[in-house]
Amino acid sequence: MPADTWWKNGIVYQIYPRSFQDSNGDGIGDLDGIRARLDYLVALGIDAVWISPIYPSPMADFGYDIADFCGIDPRFGTLDGFDALVSDAHSRGLKVILDFVPNHTSDQHPWFVQSRSARNDPRRDWYLWRDPAPDGGPPNNWISNFGGPAWRFDPTTGQYYAHSFLKEQPDLNWRNPEVRAAMYEVLRFWLRRGVDGFRVDVLSQIIKDAQFRDNPANPDFVEGQDPFHRWLMLYNTDLPEVQEIVLEMRRVVDAFSDASASRVLIGELYLPLPRLVAYYGQSANGILEGVQLPFNFQLIGAEWQAAHIGQLVRDYEAALPAGAQPNWVLGNHDRSRIASRVGPEMARLAAMLLLTLRGTPTLYYGDEIGMTDVLIPADEVQDPFEKNKPGMGLGRDPERTPMPWSAAPHAGFTTGTPWLRLADDWRTRNVEAQSRDAGSMLALYQRLIALRRAQPALHQGDHEALQAGDDVLAYARNSGGQRLVVLLNFGTTSAPISPALIPRKPTVLASTDPARADVVDGPMVLAPYEGVVISM
Ligand code: GLC
Repeated sequence: MPADTWWKNGIVYQIYPRSFQDSNGDGIGDLDGIRARLDYLVALGIDAVWISPIYPSPMADFGYDIADFCGIDPRFGTLDGFDALVSDAHSRGLKVILDFVPNHTSDQHPWFVQSRSARNDPRRDWYLWRDPAPDGGPPNNWISNFGGPAWRFDPTTGQYYAHSFLKEQPDLNWRNPEVRAAMYEVLRFWLRRGVDGFRVDVLSQIIKDAQFRDNPANPDFVEGQDPFHRWLMLYNTDLPEVQEIVLEMRRVVDAFSDASASRVLIGELYLPLPRLVAYYGQSANGILEGVQLPFNFQLIGAEWQAAHIGQLVRDYEAALPAGAQPNWVLGNHDRSRIASRVGPEMARLAAMLLLTLRGTPTLYYGDEIGMTDVLIPADEVQDPFEKNKPGMGLGRDPERTPMPWSAAPHAGFTTGTPWLRLADDWRTRNVEAQSRDAGSMLALYQRLIALRRAQPALHQGDHEALQAGDDVLAYARNSGGQRLVVLLNFGTTSAPISPALIPRKPTVLASTDPARADVVDGPMVLAPYEGVVISM
């Protein structure tokens, strides 16, 4: 694909490295494991892999607590192994996107070890240190995303440090120019090794109020809700200064883009629509200078209903700045899996939605075989989110279980003991079994991905909303003279489609129903939960 179009026309696939493929029998997935599965990804048809953190880490938050931004954790492999992975991926036409975690480091990172050692240490100001409140308590009311105050008292120097997540994840001070310079060097380190872009972790939170003011109370807070929502995050999220940093990051990354390879920034942003689209940045000479893809997570929280999703798509399309590339996400390592949220039949419809909407789709590993959340018994819980706030349904282990590859022991994931249990159905729901079944979820994903790649209307066409009845989400994708119509029946009953919309005997390019014939004999009627792509 031409240089600047891979992240526009292509498909991103998220790998949670601990759970993708183990190569050395320690029960934890690794880089050589990913390398061994590249041909699977090529056959699936995706264009880029985003790999969650693989850097040296005490694993308090499974790699999102980083002790060295420029290394590889021995559990995952070595730098040489990483280079080999990039080279093998590139030789197959696959791009490699790394996770960049700028908000915090591990408390074991040498920067923090120095910073906490003395008030006058040169790295003191690399983190957010504050005196206790007059009563000795935390400096303000900010709450950690993982529960409890976002501040930890450090007796050595008698001050508190800020941590938006675990106490093992102290927040960096992005107001300090030395921190910025050091973190931009981290980007350059990986860009020089050939990575094609970064998914930027909790981008909206990286800079905090310079005066550390208390957050105001959330008037909509209901007792019993996650206490995290008790305050509005006015002074520690989405401050105007974040945009400055985004612009700087973009310049660093752009310096490595050339005619043969364009590098991309993807922002992790859970924000309301108007705030989200601001992360595309301002336009300079017709080019938006923010992150190219501010992750659009709206489908993750959506009510799974045609009218609601139709509205959400229209609102998103209308909110996008000129020249912005839309994108869609169905799931990730932090949220319940799509097949569990909507059920197995609807998950097929969701696959068609994701792969036919206008915008770059991101797939979460295992969703292509319909993996579901796995119930993890209390004594096997790994995720600190669940350990800190037990019983609130916040734990993320269920959506992080090992990929089932085959009916071999431990589903071919490992020869050892998997770090997290496999789903009960791994003997039947696995890649090998689904590869042999034309009606499987995997076959559907493969067909839809191939169709998206083959049809310009799907990978680069415009989006036109259509009306087709209450339970049917309908839209056209147009490019040049080509017009494809997508019809998705969210209803539990069959849905006849008006001949004014779809003439008799239409050609069906894809259906979620494997038994559907290519040419319909008569008027179009959708089966319950059926989705189709029709060539006009
Ligand atoms: C992001 C990651 C999540 C992690 C958190 C802290 O939200 O997706 O997994 O726990 O940041 O780094």
